Amino acid sequence: MVNEMSEEMGNEMRNEMLNAMNSQTNTVIKSDLALLAPNKSFSEHLPIRFEGIHLAFAKRAIYSNLNLEIGAHGITAIMGPNGAGKSLILRLLAGLIQPDQGRVLYNGKSGLPAGQIGFVFQRPVLLRRSVQDNLLHALSLADVARVERPYRSQALLELGGMEHLARSPARKLSGGEQQRLTLLRALAAKPGLLVLDEPSASLDPQATALIEKIVRRASQCGVKVLLVTHDQGQAARLADNVMFVHKGQVHPVQPTGSFLKQPASREAKAYLAGELLID
Ligand SMILES: Nc1ncnc2c1ncn2[C@@H]1O[C@H](COP(=O)(O)OP(=O)(O)O)[C@@H](O)[C@H]1O
Ligand SMILES: [Mg+2]
Repeated sequence: MVNEMSEEMGNEMRNEMLNAMNSQTNTVIKSDLALLAPNKSFSEHLPIRFEGIHLAFAKRAIYSNLNLEIGAHGITAIMGPNGAGKSLILRLLAGLIQPDQGRVLYNGKSGLPAGQIGFVFQRPVLLRRSVQDNLLHALSLADVARVERPYRSQALLELGGMEHLARSPARKLSGGEQQRLTLLRALAAKPGLLVLDEPSASLDPQATALIEKIVRRASQCGVKVLLVTHDQGQAARLADNVMFVHKGQVHPVQPTGSFLKQPASREAKAYLAGELLID
């Protein structure tokens, strides 16, 4: 009981702190545009639609006839219990796995817009090199001209508040720093779509706030963001709308405020009340 109470108080304080930090950053900074605005506009590839997706592993169906639509604007949060199928939706739409049946369409076309998706996985995967070298490598993969790379890497480090760590081995960073570097690395290619799978799941409030700040700035620069999160405070701070996933089915997208106050389905209500943790 005591533990539960202190955990609840902890969450409340955490959210208060994060909300206060949130209100400080709401203007688009010009230099951010040069650094983050997508190379090619992504809006022509939206909406993203799944049509009749079937996917099974060893005969266990994960999706049977999954249909969904992710619209054009802002940050979309994907929420739902563990095992609901959130991460697989991200993998399908990024073309990292193929469905057994059905199609993933970008504004009606099935070809995936090459090089325009930045993906941040649940666990950071960094090269065994310095922080700076991880960014320089990503910039080189993104075909950024060699002369431009040091400037861009420096600007990304500044965006992430990581200048002082430029020469540190990336794999020796703290969890929060590694996740931030992974996010900066995903943004190095100036993607039109940023896909984040629980990017701050095990991070403290400060580390979470830094991640949220970068995501918000990318969104303000025109990057479409998809974010899997279990954190209702984070959804409230960042997301324009929420897609709820339960047992391989997607419920209609709702604006974040109304989803959190009046979820449209019984399952979403139970999930938000903490009654639907594992399916
Ligand atoms: N490569 C795989 N092989 C077998 N089962 C998988 C694989 N990937 C995911 N699954 C199963 O698919 C379901 C949905 O997974 P996932 O999308 O990762 O859920 P979550 O909503 O927690 O992100 C889970 O039951 C998971 O165990
Ligand atoms: Mg997942």
